[in-house]
Amino acid sequence: MQKNILIIGACGQIGTELTYTLRAQYGNDSIIASDIREGNEELMNSGPFELLDATDYDALEELIAYYEIDEVYLMAAMLSATAEKFPMRAWNLNMNSLFNVLNLAKEKKISKIFWPSSIAVFGPNTPATDTPQNTIMEPSTVYGISKQSGERWCEYYHNKFGVDVRSIRYPGLISWKTMPGGGTTDYGVEIYHKALNEGEYTCFLRASTKLPMMYMDDAIRATLEIMQSPAEQIKTRSSYNLAAMSFTPAEVATSIASHIAGFKMIYEPDSRQEIADSWPSSIDDSKASKDWGWQAQFDLEKTTKAMLANLKT
Ligand code: SER
Repeated sequence: MQKNILIIGACGQIGTELTYTLRAQYGNDSIIASDIREGNEELMNSGPFELLDATDYDALEELIAYYEIDEVYLMAAMLSATAEKFPMRAWNLNMNSLFNVLNLAKEKKISKIFWPSSIAVFGPNTPATDTPQNTIMEPSTVYGISKQSGERWCEYYHNKFGVDVRSIRYPGLISWKTMPGGGTTDYGVEIYHKALNEGEYTCFLRASTKLPMMYMDDAIRATLEIMQSPAEQIKTRSSYNLAAMSFTPAEVATSIASHIAGFKMIYEPDSRQEIADSWPSSIDDSKASKDWGWQAQFDLEKTTKAMLANLKT
């Protein structure tokens, strides 16, 4: 039987690239892209696209029946900085969309779910360096609280109802195709655009704020690898730690300056600094390596080269 896949939040930073990659693997017509709003033309024209509010259970159920969907990637979420401004909206979107897909899987209307978690599940009391898979998790942000709760529900639905849900705690993601929106790690993308267009960047985090980061190609590969691994290899059903590199704004500025002479950084920390300060600076992802063979490929230098080359063209 043909496997049809629904991507919710397909116009976002991760959703866009996931849609392209899955369409290349499974054929354009098998990958149904959906979002609450329209995205770029290229994405919407490359295969089926539907407007969908993921918090609307009936609409979601109807779409899944219509397209005979087997797997769902739920990429819609309100990220950390925006969630601090709209706590109730963030909670409703992040939790209700997850409950909707978990309940559809419980009802056997879909057979597999991918749901992204984040380094935001950790908090100020978590060991900040080489943060272990299992550790203190006391998130202090609206977004982090929703992701931490989501992880508990994923594990619960797996244990109680046998739901095949798989999840990764993404670090900050660096990509060039689609801009991130409303996150704390967004500076790591904006900086490359500004460096090329204006030769300088005003950073909203302090120079020394070290955060775990990852180039999008690694993130997409990790997502497909965890989803395509045999179910018995996925031993953690809350969410896996995942890592590639960690850097500070000062370090990424140095990396860019080695390609763009005279690149200038200005530091004007804002409310996002407090969010960043509550997150770890590096992550131990050995459990993901052991269980399903995860291995990152992009370090900071390789990321800088790829970002500048792709944004220049
Ligand atoms: N990159 C996200 C954010 O900054 C964290 O998952 O909100």
